[in-house]
Order: sequence, then structure tokens, then C-alpha cells
Amino acid sequence: MRRRVIAGNWKMHMTCAQARDYMGEFLPLIEATPDDRHVVLAPPFTAISTMAGLADGSRVQLASQNVHWQSEGAFTAEISAEMLLEHKVRYTIVGHSEPRKYFSESDEQINQRARCAQANGLIPIVCVGESDQQRERGEAERVIRRQIEQGLEGLDANRLVVAYEPIWAIGTGKTCEASEANRICGLIRSWVGAMDLVIQYGGSVKPANIDELMAMSDIDGVLVGGASLKPDGFARIANYQTP
Ligand code: PGA
Repeated sequence: MRRRVIAGNWKMHMTCAQARDYMGEFLPLIEATPDDRHVVLAPPFTAISTMAGLADGSRVQLASQNVHWQSEGAFTAEISAEMLLEHKVRYTIVGHSEPRKYFSESDEQINQRARCAQANGLIPIVCVGESDQQRERGEAERVIRRQIEQGLEGLDANRLVVAYEPIWAIGTGKTCEASEANRICGLIRSWVGAMDLVIQYGGSVKPANIDELMAMSDIDGVLVGGASLKPDGFARIANYQTP
């Protein structure tokens, strides 16, 4: 069975003090979480060191919200793989729709970030997904396929996670129907041609819809924004139950 990866992206939330309170509540709630799944949290950079200490010896693995493709240099506001590895970061999110939109990240840059992550032993979580206009125009599959072809070029599918995140479902409360999310995840798997590729769904995942999403054949995990900020809610998501 493919690895299950339940990841929470805190985005620009959580001071170190808040992260401490969060973990105090969260860790006891995931003590009995089944071993078939990885539980991952992506704090902001300022909380990574604190989180590394808090997560030590627990089920929680750390992700970063970005990684640069150079090992060091004049790249203001960026972070290198080596800096992340020092804090035992295991996964890194690249190609999220927010940096794609606000900072015009291209598929080529995303690919460079992901390649550098893999070269350093980090597992990239590469996000793809269409906007509502693209979906309405019937372009969703073409857009995602292009993101996959360009963003995943040269990557090893066995050390990779792809997150299908329709932009219209992110932070809107509008979850994609589980069957439609599953269909797209299945298409992504066939385009990549790797049966073992771990594919997540993301976009308004919450305790109320996690069990249905995780019961789908091609959904191997979730990438959770807003609902990962509440320890009890995210613990319920990590403790999803399938029939
Ligand atoms: P959301 O965010 O769960 O708040 O919709 C998902 C994401 O941005 O990955």
C-alpha cells in the first residue's frame, strides 16, 4: 500500500509560543494514530527550530513551506535545503498556489526547487491545480498536465508527493467533490506513470470530509491549511477512519 501523508500547512500563522501550546494539545491526541500514515506539519521558518525540539521522538515530521535551488548566496528571503536539514525537516512544499499567484512562481522555478530538495534528501510536495475560471472553461486537465510535465521533470517519483489543490477550493470552504478529486488524482498518476507516487488532495479539508476523501482509491493523503491550525481538528484529520 502507498504511504499515507497527512500534512498541515500553517502558512503565515503561529509564533513559537503558539506552536508550543499547539503541540502540547496535539501530541497526546495522535499517540494512537495508526502507523500507516505520516503526520506532517509545515510551520513558518521562525518556528521550525522550536518545532524540531517539540516534535523530537513524536509522530510529527516537519515540512518547510519553501526551499531554494541554490545551496547559499544572495537570495534575500529564501532558505536553503541545508538550513532545513539542520532542523530535521523531511518534506518541503513547493509550487503552492499562493506563491504561484503572489510571487509569480513559474513551473520552471518550482521544478528547480523540487530537484534541489530531492538532491538533498528532502521530499518535495509539489502542488498543482486549476483556478475556477480555468475549470469553467474546461481547461482544468490541460493546466494540471502542463504543471505536472514541467514541474516534475527529472524528479524521482518514489521520493515525491504531488498535491492536487484546485485553487477555487483553497480557503473557501468549497471542497472539491471526493469523486472528482479522485478522478484528477488518478489522471495525475497515469500521466506521471508511477503507481507508487503519493498523491494528496488539498482544499478545504476538514474533520467533516476527511474520512470520505481518504476512502478514495487514488487519494493517498491531504494537504490541510486552515483546519491544521486547530490541534483537535487536525488530530481528527490525522486519525481519519476508512471503512
Ligand atoms: P485550506 O488550504 O485547507 O485552508 O483550504 C489548503 C492549502 O492551501 O493547501
